[in-house]
Amino acid sequence: MTLTEMAVAVLTTADGRAKTALSRQYAAQWQAARAAGDVIEIGTATPPLRPARPDRPELLDPRDVPHRKPGTEAGRIALLHAVAHIELNAVDLHWDIIARFSDTKLPLGYYDDWVKAADEESKHFNLMCDCLEELGSHYGALPAHAGMWRAAEDTVDDLMGRLAVVPMVLEARGLDVTPGMIKIFKQAKLTSAVAALETIYAEEVHHVAYGSKWFHFLCGRHDLDPTGVFHDLVRKYFHGNLKPPFNEEKRAEAGIPPDFYWPLAGTGAVSAGSS
Ligand SMILES: [Fe+2]
Ligand SMILES: [Fe+2]
Repeated sequence: MTLTEMAVAVLTTADGRAKTALSRQYAAQWQAARAAGDVIEIGTATPPLRPARPDRPELLDPRDVPHRKPGTEAGRIALLHAVAHIELNAVDLHWDIIARFSDTKLPLGYYDDWVKAADEESKHFNLMCDCLEELGSHYGALPAHAGMWRAAEDTVDDLMGRLAVVPMVLEARGLDVTPGMIKIFKQAKLTSAVAALETIYAEEVHHVAYGSKWFHFLCGRHDLDPTGVFHDLVRKYFHGNLKPPFNEEKRAEAGIPPDFYWPLAGTGAVSAGSS
């Protein structure tokens, strides 16, 4: 199988645990081949516009997803469920970025990075499912956000737009909010959720960094100014302003400087009505 065929196989698997098992198996195959000095062919394959999804969770408009207080058991379950849903989408997003843009010539390191990211997202989904099951729930027990794949559809023919919006905006947002989540589970003394979220927090920095790395690579290839192009693409594809407070330390570690995100924060630095 070519790497893009593997990507399509993951994208067209509906069940979460089955999807992540396949994802991890293909990642291990790719990495073993690379370590042995062989290369699995990238190939070309047509990924589906939307990945296969299980019957549950029910997908609702973001406005209709009920909000629960995080200080309660139900609230903590809802939070873990929301993160599990994000991780499952992330598995598909990383395989999609491998298959979707296979007509763009890219170094093998591009594929190494996204295969590794997809493998880690698969682990994250499984960790969140384990935590939910420990609390007597499971992925699919609650409704989830339907809007998660929108960024992928909006950038279906724009690799730089995809890199700007998915790893450099959405995954970077994860770096901003995860420490607060860890605090909630520490207060509730749920040690396995704390450990899982700490793993996610540590590994997500790299996914944002891969986004920044390949965004800058393509800017260099086309002789473009990265900051200006980033602002244009986020304004084009991302609906709304970026929300401070930002995790400046982790964003810096991931190669996202302040002049990338502050002008998009809607704090007055951007002209009114831009969203
Ligand atoms: Fe993740
Ligand atoms: Fe990620």
